[in-house]
Amino acid sequence: MILQGKRILLIISGGIAAYKSLDLIRRLRERGASVRPVMTAGAQAFVTPLAVGALAADKVFTDLFSREDEQDVGHIRLARDCDLVLIAPATADLMAKMANGLADDLASTILLATDRPVLVAPAMNPKMWWHPATCRNHATLVADGIRFVGPASGEMAESGEKGEGRMAEPLDIVAAVEDVLDPSSKPLLGRKAIVTSGPTHEPIDPVRYIANRSSGKQGHAIAGELARLGADVTLVSGPVTIPDPKGVRVVRVERAEEMRDAVLAALPADIAVMVAAVADWRVASAAGNKIKKQPGEAPPPLQLTENPDILKTVGHHAQRPALVVGFAAETQDVAENGRAKLERKGADYIVANDVSPQTGIMGGDRNTVKIIGKSGDEDWPDMDKQAVAEKLALLISSHFAG
Ligand code: C5P
Repeated sequence: MILQGKRILLIISGGIAAYKSLDLIRRLRERGASVRPVMTAGAQAFVTPLAVGALAADKVFTDLFSREDEQDVGHIRLARDCDLVLIAPATADLMAKMANGLADDLASTILLATDRPVLVAPAMNPKMWWHPATCRNHATLVADGIRFVGPASGEMAESGEKGEGRMAEPLDIVAAVEDVLDPSSKPLLGRKAIVTSGPTHEPIDPVRYIANRSSGKQGHAIAGELARLGADVTLVSGPVTIPDPKGVRVVRVERAEEMRDAVLAALPADIAVMVAAVADWRVASAAGNKIKKQPGEAPPPLQLTENPDILKTVGHHAQRPALVVGFAAETQDVAENGRAKLERKGADYIVANDVSPQTGIMGGDRNTVKIIGKSGDEDWPDMDKQAVAEKLALLISSHFAG
């Protein structure tokens, strides 16, 4: 009985599929969950708060600026005092608001304020579902860690049009809710993970630095996925412009030495995934003041010195995590260099990829990797970095199964 005692905040937005939400409430409650309903103005045009409240056996929340509700429960408590926020049906408009962080009514404000898992059951006309704007919003929400169930294909209730856009059936939504809340779908619960991501910036003087093209996309996606599988994740990130993944603790650093210190401070851990493109060298003695260009003088020489190898340090540490994963960005002899790195750095896996400029991997959205392990290699096909993160997180979980 996964749903026994679970508290579901059900947001109903405006669509003809709202009538199915009445059945959904019954199905969730039959399984032992409590359902606290929130309805948008649009939803109330399709089903009445009276019917929803009667089936949920709870008060229906509709107003952001209701004085009694705010004194009684408040939108922040509504957003947090639950195990899951479920939106069924979710309109294209509500998805657009979520994807852009708008908060102009109770439902959208709760969605911006919540730190709980969010499951979305979209329902709309197929043309709206496949509109480039909705596709963009869907991709943004998936990247933000929002889960989806449906939409299903079939005939539209209003127009008779066929295609994808029907809200998933209540029992399918219940199954998706159970999946999100099932502790066995969190195989890394109780495990601690450290992930490094992004480039490092090595100062030359207070305004100049040596950097590389790493975006942090791969490392951040891995941190997010490990967290989604239940791990307690510390992400040590170099300077990046992408948002923090959901549900992870982020420690921001600039230099390799700072990154090493932050990683060592996060030990002990069960898992280390070192994805950051750490600069191999730093300027031996960075200038305290901006180096001035002097007419007629030769350019200043840059004396470099080696940076600490964080992966190698962790791989040979007295508190070495049970599973250590490194990356190897290569432009030639990917497999050979990766295997040598596995040994040298004391890693269990090296995720090797070819970062030659023509591959577009460095800074791009896709990745083609080779997994080099102690017992052999595995080539993964070209996929987006999120999919690589999902597959890698599953591989990592398999080491802790049972
Ligand atoms: O030796 P190379 O830089 O190719 O090794 C790449 C792997 O080692 C990556 O996992 C990277 O995060 C890690 N690394 C590190 N500290 C360094 C250099 C690389 O942790 N100074």
